[in-house]
Amino acid sequence: MNASNIGHLVQLAFIAGAALFVIGLHLMNSPATARTGNRVSASGMVIAISAEIVFVTQGGVGLGNWVVLIGGLALGGGLGLRMARTVAMTSMPQLVSLFNAVGGGAAALLALADFIARDGHRVLAGGVPGLDGWRTLFIIADVIIGSVTFTGSLVASAKLMGRIKGQPILIPGGRILTWLLLVAGLSVSIVMILAGAGAVTYEPSILTLLLLAALACALIFGVTMVLPIGGADMPVVISLLNAFTGTAVAMAGFVVGNVMLIVAGALVGASGAILTRLMASAMNRSIANILVGGFGAGEGTQSALTSAGGTVREVSVDDAAIQLAYANKVIIVPGYGLAVAQAQHGVRELADLLEARGIDVSYAIHPVAGRMPGHMNVLLAEANVPYPQLREMDEINPEFERTDVALVVGANDVTNPAARTDRSSPIFGMPILDVDRARSIIVVKRSMGRGYAGIDNPLYVNPKTGMFFADAKRGLQELVAAVKAL
Ligand code: TAP
Repeated sequence: MNASNIGHLVQLAFIAGAALFVIGLHLMNSPATARTGNRVSASGMVIAISAEIVFVTQGGVGLGNWVVLIGGLALGGGLGLRMARTVAMTSMPQLVSLFNAVGGGAAALLALADFIARDGHRVLAGGVPGLDGWRTLFIIADVIIGSVTFTGSLVASAKLMGRIKGQPILIPGGRILTWLLLVAGLSVSIVMILAGAGAVTYEPSILTLLLLAALACALIFGVTMVLPIGGADMPVVISLLNAFTGTAVAMAGFVVGNVMLIVAGALVGASGAILTRLMASAMNRSIANILVGGFGAGEGTQSALTSAGGTVREVSVDDAAIQLAYANKVIIVPGYGLAVAQAQHGVRELADLLEARGIDVSYAIHPVAGRMPGHMNVLLAEANVPYPQLREMDEINPEFERTDVALVVGANDVTNPAARTDRSSPIFGMPILDVDRARSIIVVKRSMGRGYAGIDNPLYVNPKTGMFFADAKRGLQELVAAVKAL
């Protein structure tokens, strides 16, 4: 087969791979088809990588290149497989962040390598009008966005792993520095693009220095942008950086003329941007407010409700079990506490017992319950909770009024009625689960401790609420035993 035919086949394979990515993403819309979607997307990636290998090796490559290709595939693939298999569900955000760092860094390196290989600084210094303006734009955008993503994602991941403290870290003059870096990076980019378009001419050495300056600004900007943001806001930041990775990869596609990179990057960029937007609006906060930082540092602080005159009614495990076992309709509200306690199997066991008694059981899923998108759906799916029992917030909210018991397990902010009533509350306007409208409420948590937003939850002093103070996993085990004993 001649080189031109191989080239056409490779392009066809790229189109097939891109189509599989889109179909895979579509299948991920529903938990029932998400696994298939993942497999379809993975097969698209296998086709794309194989086609790329055929493409780069068709002219014949030396042994050294084969070693780099196969060594890189084995090392990257092996490490990725191992990390994905061993990671705990609660550590998923930091893993995604590490993958973002690698993706952004690789995209930036690709642009740098292209610039060096084409002797870019000399080409630009020649000021060839119209010829290199767009290419320079893609190179500089790729270097800047990829580098910001690289360092920003490393900091985000270190915060979530606890290697850097999770609270907002405010360096004196840090915000001014961040703005200065942004302005400097953009100015350098404009100069480079003008040089690329032939509008201005500079010495090759100056252009090399400018590119390195843009690289340095972007690397430092990534750090100063993410440091002041609290650990609990990191999932939103990670989703934003994911959108950046996609954009950097798409830019890299334009730089090296690879349609597959452009399509894959655009899909990641667009889906990351949509997810970031959804998360921010489900928390009723703007992306700018999240990036300014300083929110959500109050997790674990103790409630002032009782000192303000509220009365907390504590229930024993037997009381809670009786209420549940003699109800007609129960809605379970899982939250972050259920996830950290790994109590998903216990909650499923309790639900099975109640269903066996003829009770209607469903789960109310708030879009930002937990610490990452889809956290609750994934955990409950892992415990084989049937999908039809998982109900989205808008769909389940009208049902609370007809519910005998709302069982809240390790959820706090997403049930806080202050979001509906208290204009001064930091979460005012955030859509919540209307748990307080149920006939009675049982809350399983360890103490009166606050949640992520660091604010009090008046639900706990509602006369209809019984507090069952326990670790979610242990509390559910006790409830299961008590219901069985009835
Ligand atoms: P939170 O409001 O954070 O409350 C979790 C509660 O779980 C805490 O009050 C804690 O109380 C309890 N808890 C912790 N460990 C526990 C254990 N082992 N057993 C039992 N309870 C335990 O959680 P939520 O209601 O799920 O709300 C999520 C919050 O995270 C929202 O404010 C949301 O905006 C934010 N957020 C979410 C996302 C996404 S995408 N999901 C992203 C960023 C931020 P005790 O200490 O008293 O036990």
